Amino acid sequence: MKVTVVGAGNVGASCAEYIAIKRIASEVVLLDIKEGFAEGKALDLTQTATTLGFNTRITGVTNDYNATAGSDVVVITSGIPRKPGMTREELIGINAGIVQSVAENVLANSPEAIIVVVSNPMDTMTYLALKATGLPKNRIIGMGGALDSSRFKTYLSKALDKPANDIQGMVIGGHGDTTMIPLTRLASYNGTPVSQHLSQEQMDEVAAATMVGGATLTKLLGTSAWYAPGASVAYLVDSIINDQKRMIPCSVYLEGEYGHSDLCIGVPCIIGKDGVEAIVDVKLNEAEQAKFDQSAQAVRTMNDALGSILN
Ligand code: NAI
Ligand code: 2OP
Repeated sequence: MKVTVVGAGNVGASCAEYIAIKRIASEVVLLDIKEGFAEGKALDLTQTATTLGFNTRITGVTNDYNATAGSDVVVITSGIPRKPGMTREELIGINAGIVQSVAENVLANSPEAIIVVVSNPMDTMTYLALKATGLPKNRIIGMGGALDSSRFKTYLSKALDKPANDIQGMVIGGHGDTTMIPLTRLASYNGTPVSQHLSQEQMDEVAAATMVGGATLTKLLGTSAWYAPGASVAYLVDSIINDQKRMIPCSVYLEGEYGHSDLCIGVPCIIGKDGVEAIVDVKLNEAEQAKFDQSAQAVRTMNDALGSILN
């Protein structure tokens, strides 16, 4: 199986690395517009193969979409971060142009590919990719909830002082500091509700830390994170390529689910060989649904900034 990763920057290269190390696909193509950059990343990664014991073929190309032909999954990480003085609309305008042209180039060469959108603002870029390409909604998947959920479980494990892999939990809603919704009520430690083990104050602290999880890292690193984002993309790609049918919160197009339509936002999905195979209704309580409604409104407001790009 073949995976193309567009954008060989921090997240793109990290995701390519995990896909290879975990032997998720037989071939990975890294593509970037920066001359020689993807080639360099691919060569460097390839030179880890004998040490790490994988055989995935990794190729790097500068804007050559012919090399991406026949990809089963395409991950879009290309874009720029917000710069000082830049409005959100300006950032959206620039990244929208990049995501739209990348999606069109990718599909011209891989008409059957499932597209995973990572570039920020991710929910809006996922919506744009869907509208711009006209692909069926099962084939456009925004990655954000997998990452936010991994941060949530990490903070829960720290609060519980228990191993992270004994913790279950999900974050839904928009992929943003104020829009994501850690589902604390449904989180568990080996099948027992976390509320049995943590006080309300501790659970609130975990939720708050999760919501600013990306910002905390950006402050520490001077740019946004890449290990956990790259690993989360690889986890999602694995579920598609190997038809794992994992339940993963992903930003997908809603048509009435969770009470909303005509936007992409994070909800629990079954992810398999056909991409989004089902949206799972986890039965939110009134307070959670109210948060989801607020989150959806914020995502819609962000989508409005796409303005004429979609017309
Ligand atoms: P980066 O700056 O390290 O890499 C971006 C790469 O995209 C650069 O190498 C750049 O040359 C390339 N690029 C720009 N325009 C291109 C085009 N038209 N075609 C091909 N390549 C192009 O950035 P990083 O840290 O890898 O982040 C990438 C994106 O992912 C950002 O928008 C970031 O905000 C987002 N992100 C999203 C996450 C999520 O959970 N959804 C998590 C982390 C980052
Ligand atoms: C993150 O959550 C900024 O989306 C990026 O790390």
